Amino acid sequence: MENIFREDKKYILNVYNRINLEIVKSKGSYLYDEDGNKYLDMFSGLSVNNIGNSNEEIIQAILKQSSDYIHISNYFVSKSIVKLAKLLVENTHASKVFFTNSGTESNEAAIKIARKFGLSINKGKTHILAAYNSFHGRTLGSLSLTGQKKYQENFKPLLPDIDYFIYNNIEDLKQKVNHKTCAVFIELIQGEGGIIQIDNSFVKCLNELSKKYNFLIIVDEIQTGLGRTGELLTSHYYNIKPHITTLAKSLGGGLPLGAVLVSKDIENLLKKGEHGSTFGGNPVSCACGEVVINKILEKDFKKDLRRKSNYLLDKLYILKDKYPHIIKDIRGKGLMIGIDVGEYAFIIKEKALEKKLIINITNKTVIRLLPPLNIDTKEIDEFLDIFEVIISERI
Ligand SMILES: Cc1ncc(COP(=O)(O)O)c(C=O)c1O
Repeated sequence: MENIFREDKKYILNVYNRINLEIVKSKGSYLYDEDGNKYLDMFSGLSVNNIGNSNEEIIQAILKQSSDYIHISNYFVSKSIVKLAKLLVENTHASKVFFTNSGTESNEAAIKIARKFGLSINKGKTHILAAYNSFHGRTLGSLSLTGQKKYQENFKPLLPDIDYFIYNNIEDLKQKVNHKTCAVFIELIQGEGGIIQIDNSFVKCLNELSKKYNFLIIVDEIQTGLGRTGELLTSHYYNIKPHITTLAKSLGGGLPLGAVLVSKDIENLLKKGEHGSTFGGNPVSCACGEVVINKILEKDFKKDLRRKSNYLLDKLYILKDKYPHIIKDIRGKGLMIGIDVGEYAFIIKEKALEKKLIINITNKTVIRLLPPLNIDTKEIDEFLDIFEVIISERI
């Protein structure tokens, strides 16, 4: 290949901000470039490689399932798909699962269930609410939920009868909800929005309003789910009973896979032919999903993650005290951590890359840490050392 960066620009729609690095190999918490340089990965391919890059058990699951069959279509039952669904049902609020290929598709399916739920009650119950500053995906349905102008403005008209409330603002939510509301979509920690956690009082209000106005609570755990904050679902930390939870990202261990977890009372809403997907619930992806879920359910997973999270957060707070002019705020739960560094975010990201550290920025000012969940303390120290060198230099 002549020059991969030039050809990438030439042949692929230029919608991504590429990092100026060609990765040829990955393992555990590291990525390697063509010259053998090693980069510490505090990003996990956007919280996808949660059990480490190129995890050996994932590789084995791919090999095993693909040597039996790779795809047979959803006309057939498949052991690996059923096994993953059973694991999800046995360990969450769900009584049934629908598999997709991505986060946006999970939310699309959830929108359809919500609309069908509303219409099954009365003809006008089609109103859906989501939060400002939320992120739910980029296809037209889920983009209609994504309450951020910058993503929506060039693609209007979007889905009708969708409105937004101010995150964590009880009065605003109360004003926006009505008897025509069929669903409220919510992130328990806004990820793309800058790592902002939901308040318990807001959750309480949401539960009360859901009962009063009979709407579905749809929790988007595409970023917060699957062990990222320690629990299989972040909703375990809150007094919330989602009717639907949407998942994706790390579910397939790096292969495309999403899921819609549906609670008992609405499990029969969609009838045969009303929804479907050619690839949704690919047997190979689902075999990997089983590995991923079993890892999160291991006895010491939660304890270990909490220990590492506390360790990292404690050290970050020390850095915040030491460099208050740079670190404005530290937020997050488990290994989903935001460091608000204001206008320094992009320069820090650039310097990090020079020092062979991969970090991500969200909402312009927030360094978003999403390391592999099996990162070890030594690697966390490595991150902290590099990070301190960068912020202690004159930037
Ligand atoms: C909370 C949330 N919902 C939905 C999505 C969309 O997922 P995907 O990119 O797989 O379509 C994302 C992606 O970042 C997300 O963070």
